[in-house]
Amino acid sequence: MFKHWRSDVEAVLTRDPAARTALEVILCYPSFRAVRRHRRAHWLWTHNMKLLARIVSQRTRRITGIEIHPGAQIGKGLFIDHGMGVVIGETTQIGDDVTLYQGVTLGGTGKDVGKRHPTIGNNVVIGAGARVLGPFTVGDGVKIGASAVVLKEVPPYATVVGNPGRIVRQAGKKPANADLDQVNLPDPVKERIESLTRRVEQMEKCLQRRIPQECEDCQQECCDDCLKNRKEEQKDEDL
Ligand SMILES: CC(C)(COP(=O)(O)OP(=O)(O)OC[C@H]1O[C@@H](n2cnc3c(N)ncnc32)[C@H](O)[C@@H]1OP(=O)(O)O)[C@@H](O)C(=O)NCCC(=O)NCCS
Repeated sequence: MFKHWRSDVEAVLTRDPAARTALEVILCYPSFRAVRRHRRAHWLWTHNMKLLARIVSQRTRRITGIEIHPGAQIGKGLFIDHGMGVVIGETTQIGDDVTLYQGVTLGGTGKDVGKRHPTIGNNVVIGAGARVLGPFTVGDGVKIGASAVVLKEVPPYATVVGNPGRIVRQAGKKPANADLDQVNLPDPVKERIESLTRRVEQMEKCLQRRIPQECEDCQQECCDDCLKNRKEEQKDEDL
């Protein structure tokens, strides 16, 4: 419970240029308070005092605006900058020296049971308002941009941005297959309408000619339809 005191203080001092002294960190930083209280709640949780653990965690939430489920496993040196609105789910695992900004959610999608929250590696930075949802791994040294929504595994040392999150840097370099064109995105509805329009035009031509065997434009099953229609029309005429 007490073994991470020093690293919890140092995490704030080294990563927040505004932090001046250890005393200031201990007295004024919601991150330090929430992490320390979480370590207490987690101890209670793992020693079968689950209700008490939940009470501690909910009180921490009221005081700091940071909600960490007491079941979550957190390494040393976690820094939650500003804090307000951070949610960390029950089966989350966080490595060492991770930085979270305000509004980050490490949550589940609602589809999984058991392990349903992410596993975050060491030295990961997760930007303000980002959501990491599901029971996958975010590798060591990953940076997740502000407001990103990450729904699948991220390899180590990648930078992920956007919704849904996509890798825009791998170890500081643009990945070879990166498609960063966010303006000319595919429009599946438009493509489907265009395909249907082409099909209707083909069928109209087919019907106009009334000779399905010679219909060169139409290579699809509408030829059979034409043939059937023609036979039915022939029957009507004979009657
Ligand atoms: C993602 C981040 C960590 C930067 O990582 P990086 O590896 O240094 O990446 P870069 O700055 O080189 O940016 C890579 C690309 O992603 C884009 N990008 C960066 N952050 C982004 C974001 N949050 N959303 C969308 N795109 C983003 C950049 O424009 C760049 O695009 P390009 O390849 O077309 O030039 C940083 O931009 C970020 O979002 N940090 C969170 C900071 C935060 O939450 N601060 C709150 C303070 S209160």
